Amino acid sequence: MSEMSGLRALVTGGASGIGRATAELLAARGANVAVLDLDPSSVDKPMRGYAADVSDDSSVRSAVAAAAADLGGIDILVNNAGIGAAGTVEDNDDAQWHRVLDVNVLGIVRTTRAALPHLRASAHAAVVNTCSIAATAGLPQRALYSASKGAVHSLTLAMAADHVREGIRVNCVNPGTTETPWVDRLLDQAADPASERAALNARQPMGRLVTAHEVAAAVAYLASPAAASITGIALAVDGGMQGLRLRPERQ
Ligand SMILES: NC(=O)c1ccc[n+]([C@@H]2O[C@H](COP(=O)([O-])OP(=O)(O)OC[C@H]3O[C@@H](n4cnc5c(N)ncnc54)[C@H](O)[C@@H]3O)[C@@H](O)[C@H]2O)c1
Repeated sequence: MSEMSGLRALVTGGASGIGRATAELLAARGANVAVLDLDPSSVDKPMRGYAADVSDDSSVRSAVAAAAADLGGIDILVNNAGIGAAGTVEDNDDAQWHRVLDVNVLGIVRTTRAALPHLRASAHAAVVNTCSIAATAGLPQRALYSASKGAVHSLTLAMAADHVREGIRVNCVNPGTTETPWVDRLLDQAADPASERAALNARQPMGRLVTAHEVAAAVAYLASPAAASITGIALAVDGGMQGLRLRPERQ
């Protein structure tokens, strides 16, 4: 028996990047996996894809209900769908603030709300939210994005408290800059993509970006019965970026 066989998992934003790596890893460990995404057309069997927009409550409710019916329940919810925003507090207009908070924060509220009746029925219920290093370190040009991920961090703690006595664990992972299509898009927009990549690598104490598979491994651990006594934590997967303070390398 593999570690997660018999468990039923729903991963939002599972068609790309960290969500995709997570969905594939959970499936490889024996879970039955449903992916909820704006565009699930790239989701391959044995995973199942469901189209939904986490900023639209009725589409979330329909997709979660369909996934729960097809999987026969939900034990694991990975709230991973998210979008970015660049700029200082002067740079994003109110519509951008509402949009990013709507997807990154309320998206988690909507999917969790819809999944809770199924999680309550599970003997191994776990929620894992994708938070970010931006929740715990001050990064330049990330005012709106950081505010959204700070909210995800606090929401994770509050949800963990609310549902611990129902047997539902809630944790988050805090990735550092991770090799995904998202970062490729950011680099494509940079004036000098090569030096931007070098700057991102240099910001990591390990000197390289995090891989999506490394984040997925942390999500899979927190979601698994092996983490049965862990709730209300933020697990950094960031190459040491949050916790370490290195002296500059000798030239
Ligand atoms: N890549 C990084 O450096 C990094 C670092 C820290 C945290 N994160 C977080 O990881 C998560 C995934 O990021 P990624 O880098 O894999 O991005 P990505 O762009 O590769 O994938 C994001 C996925 O979410 C889906 N999505 C976006 N908006 C959606 C919506 N409204 N409804 C449903 N699905 C939606 C997209 O279609 C896509 O499949 C995000 O929450 C992001 O904030 C990423």
